[in-house]
Amino acid sequence: MISKLPNVGTTIFTTMSQLAAQTGALNLSQGFPDFDGPPALLEAVGRHVLAGHNQYSPMTGLPALREQVAAKVERLYRRTVDAENEITITPGATQAIFCAIQATIRHGDEVIVFDPCYDSYEPAVELAGGTCVHVQLDAANFSIDWQQLGQAINARTRMIVINSPHNPSGALISAADLDQLAALIADRDIYILSDEVYEHLVFDGVAHASVLAHERLYERAFVVSSFGKTYHVTGWKTGYVIAPPALTRELRKVHQYVSFCGVTPLQYALADYMMEHPHHVDELPGFYQGKRDLLCDLLADSRFTFSPTPGTYFQLVDYSAIRPDLNDVDMALWLTREHGVASIPVSVFYRTPVADQRLVRLCFAKREETLREAAHKLCRI
Ligand SMILES: Cc1ncc(COP(=O)(O)O)c(C=O)c1O
Repeated sequence: MISKLPNVGTTIFTTMSQLAAQTGALNLSQGFPDFDGPPALLEAVGRHVLAGHNQYSPMTGLPALREQVAAKVERLYRRTVDAENEITITPGATQAIFCAIQATIRHGDEVIVFDPCYDSYEPAVELAGGTCVHVQLDAANFSIDWQQLGQAINARTRMIVINSPHNPSGALISAADLDQLAALIADRDIYILSDEVYEHLVFDGVAHASVLAHERLYERAFVVSSFGKTYHVTGWKTGYVIAPPALTRELRKVHQYVSFCGVTPLQYALADYMMEHPHHVDELPGFYQGKRDLLCDLLADSRFTFSPTPGTYFQLVDYSAIRPDLNDVDMALWLTREHGVASIPVSVFYRTPVADQRLVRLCFAKREETLREAAHKLCRI
């Protein structure tokens, strides 16, 4: 059979998690917490299952959950979104991304992505018959190179995918960046897919610059987020996408035939929890900043070099002073096998890896004891 996705194989996330399990290494590779979500949220699922909320939810998502998302967006980003016509609950942000791309991209269209780049965008674009154009972020600080972006835009460009806070670097797109982007595409028929799954993981008192708060960009945007990231329940695969009514209509045409709806009792539980604990999202930056600071403080005595990440639950560390002879994939394997800590090499997020870049990504969504143990191992190298 001729594959429709010849370049897709087993991802490094699966490989590293498997290797961590085989070798008994601490798994700081794949991005998921090693602690549970809030007990009240977990209990609510059981309650709703037992209450008989086990059949299909509305295709667009449970109204109570959409209302909660609308209330959060109003409070945080000062945008009034219509829960009925602009918010769609999906089985994970991944599915929202897939549907947004299928709904808009046609054969021959180009989609601009920024490298290093989360891995789910390109296969979705290829299945839609489009092509990804990779623009590299500045290797020093992972900011957008506006000149390169300008050069990459042409008549075939149909979408630009942005991701802030950014996986894997943690870099943030600022409100001024959004203005610049809006100016660049003002006269063009280009959609924005804004992957904001880490919207609540922004540190040091900085405010997340959401596309939802940007009038001109929102008019043409799909804004995606993930309850999995926000409530420490990545395995629930529940997310949402917010887009203006005309875009939402098209997205839902795809969504209803990919999955039809999200998992019903999870949506009930999330709606209850969001109503009862609206400030969970306000406490998240402090919660994860504490973990970032702990990891960075502990690694201060190591031979890794880094600057504390401004967002996400990922910390990049440079290993040039330790094993400059190894490329990052070999380094990640060596760290796992020989030193018991699994990480993700950054080159896998690039179409064309940056020469001499010596970076691996550590996930700090972990319990304090996991972080202490991992840092102890990393400091001995
Ligand atoms: C940048 C980015 N987008 C999307 C996702 C997927 O989110 P979900 O698990 O809700 O599908 C992830 C998960 O790691 C991610 O890092």
